[in-house]
Amino acid sequence: MPSLENHAPKILISEDDISRRVDELAAEISADYAGKGEIVLLGVLKGAFILLADLSRRLTIPRSIEFIAVSSYEDGSMPSGAVRLVMDVRGSIEGKHVLIVEDIVDTGHTLHYLIDMLKSREPASIRTCVLLHKEHSTEVELDIDYLGFTIGDEWVVGYGLDYAEQDRTLPYIGVVKPQ
Ligand code: PRP
Repeated sequence: MPSLENHAPKILISEDDISRRVDELAAEISADYAGKGEIVLLGVLKGAFILLADLSRRLTIPRSIEFIAVSSYEDGSMPSGAVRLVMDVRGSIEGKHVLIVEDIVDTGHTLHYLIDMLKSREPASIRTCVLLHKEHSTEVELDIDYLGFTIGDEWVVGYGLDYAEQDRTLPYIGVVKPQ
């Protein structure tokens, strides 16, 4: 496992590249939803908080903000990949256009669980906006509607992503060097 002492994440995606890509995603989303009324930006805590903040401020369409938190079962009580809801959205999403905002899709179980669960609440639509996709690690079929970058199977930190709660506020996406 990477050590937290004196580590210096190698830059994988620079602050400028992230900013440019978020600009593009915001423009695409704004164009796609134009004229459809308000969308609900649903950030998945904790990792999505920075993407949500940046994306939401670049959109040119009416939007409201919600958060949800999930966690995987790590105590062996459930099959691997099982996800549980830790904090629900405050308001109803029935009849609303929901855009789930995620920092990363790895195995895909989290996003798969969320889409299934939210669909049962009868929103007008559900789409997904994800900054990073570890394509080769994904175990379930998923459509990501708005994707920032595809990455390899590396431990990444920064721009919301952590290693043991460290490095979430790095302005770039870095790779923690294995030691
Ligand atoms: C990360 C990330 C996604 C999930 C993706 O969350 O923010 O929600 O893992 O993994 P998956 O595709 O394998 O399901 P994490 O559990 O690290 O929590 P955090 O966002 O609070 O750091």
